[in-house]
Amino acid sequence: MRVELANHPLIAHKLTYLRDKRTDSPTFRRLAEELVTLLAYEATREVRVEPFHIETPVAPTTGIKLSSPKPLVVPILRAGLGMLEGMVRLLPSAEVGFLGMQRNEETLEAITYANRLPDDLSGRQCYVLDPMLATGGTLAMAIRYLAERGADDITAVTLLSAPEGIAAVEQALADLSIPITLVTGAIDERLNENGYIVPGLGDAGDRLYGVV
Ligand code: URA
Repeated sequence: MRVELANHPLIAHKLTYLRDKRTDSPTFRRLAEELVTLLAYEATREVRVEPFHIETPVAPTTGIKLSSPKPLVVPILRAGLGMLEGMVRLLPSAEVGFLGMQRNEETLEAITYANRLPDDLSGRQCYVLDPMLATGGTLAMAIRYLAERGADDITAVTLLSAPEGIAAVEQALADLSIPITLVTGAIDERLNENGYIVPGLGDAGDRLYGVV
């Protein structure tokens, strides 16, 4: 897995306010969206394009456009939804699929409870959105799920990642031969005994949507 740590003062600035426990949910949602748009710029460097012939008011020329099939953006419910708007702002023609995954708070293992995706993802570039790469169980499961349905290039976008989670995803997906990339806003110190990223930002779903 190629790991891209997005390095930009605006990313660090927005992350600092996301981490701050005094930041309320509306502000958190807005900052997360803005941050994802910056991460999306990094994450789409390798998006597939093809030549596109046009005429300017002055002369014909050749530019590029996104290739078909269009990329598929897959937020992992629930917290990944908070990243969707920021991503599709840069990729408005992308299709969107949904995967509902949750971790069991005792075993920390991921379970799938919802799936709204095309059955056949052959030749698709996929962008998986999950704000927190903690133990890595959910992300590894989501990436494998997409690869088994034919996705041939998968980029995961996370706001924060734990070193243990990155290692776990790399180990869990070592048998996959397709390109897999992680674009993340920061790699934090570690996971604590409850599976939270330290220093992290707390529970991303709760901070986005309140505790339910
Ligand atoms: N999920 C979260 O929302 N926060 C963490 O720190 C770890 C997993």
